Amino acid sequence: MSPLSSEKHAEKHAELASRIIDGKGIARALTDQVGRDVAAFVDDGNVLPGLAVVLVGNDPASEVYVKNKAIQTHRVGMRSFMHMLPQSTSQDELLDLIAQLNVNPKIHGILVQLPLPAQIDPVVVTNAIAPHKDVDGLGEVNAGRLSLGIDGIVPCTPLGCLMLLKSVHEDMTGKHAVVIGASNLVGKPMAQLLLKENCTVTVAHIHTRNTKELAREADILVVATGKSGLVRGDWIKPGATVIDVGITRVPAENGKTRLVGDVAFDEALPIAGHITPVPGGVGPMTIACLLHNTLQAAKATHAIVGASS
Ligand code: GUN
Repeated sequence: MSPLSSEKHAEKHAELASRIIDGKGIARALTDQVGRDVAAFVDDGNVLPGLAVVLVGNDPASEVYVKNKAIQTHRVGMRSFMHMLPQSTSQDELLDLIAQLNVNPKIHGILVQLPLPAQIDPVVVTNAIAPHKDVDGLGEVNAGRLSLGIDGIVPCTPLGCLMLLKSVHEDMTGKHAVVIGASNLVGKPMAQLLLKENCTVTVAHIHTRNTKELAREADILVVATGKSGLVRGDWIKPGATVIDVGITRVPAENGKTRLVGDVAFDEALPIAGHITPVPGGVGPMTIACLLHNTLQAAKATHAIVGASS
């Protein structure tokens, strides 16, 4: 290779790298900010914000997630309360625990890790969390507020996606946003947030017949299906912003495993304007937003206590 072409090669490489949205870095900045805000809140004489995380069963991926949540909670100077319950836990037992956490003044945020074992209805459980402690924003009160465009607690993963979008778009007004996946956890709240940003929003899901064609129309494409590699390079409109929420562990060549997203990253990178990697994209934002939501919940509780005393 001539020196010139190797220079060109390096330039092209740098240009492609500049399209990658640094979720890890943005999450670190947000976490650091939450840490400073917690310190200021406590310095002002307020209680230490506390987050309770409940895990039912021993799904290995969920165990890793909740341990990470506890580590990060300590890192920002908040209290972490972990509740690890056996797989056989009944719905009533879990509801009893939530009722105790709802009235515990040391706890400002409650998160029940999903998925739950089959004997427990996740909708019943998320709705049992007091709305002002529902830091996942998945209960009907916060979901309703979001759909009405009223301030409330916004689910962590879509909130993180929105922050990543805002890192590359000053204004999303009039853009066509396509969300693939219509779950209560990501797809539905994501669509609401994009509507609030004045996007034209299309939601594609498992029964949609022309998902690829819809994706090709998207200025902003958010993919949250859990189907690794679903979105190929030719699904992407040149210059689009692609947010990949998927995270699946697959076998790697070296006999180990690796994490991949719902988007075929190597195919998508040369076509997209901006794209999140997996890992290091949306994942770190989810925890950072959880900490952000917990501090907001503690501040809201303090305001109520402050107003009545
Ligand atoms: N499982 C995977 N992601 C999430 C999340 O954001 N919240 C909860 N509660 N469970 C999850």
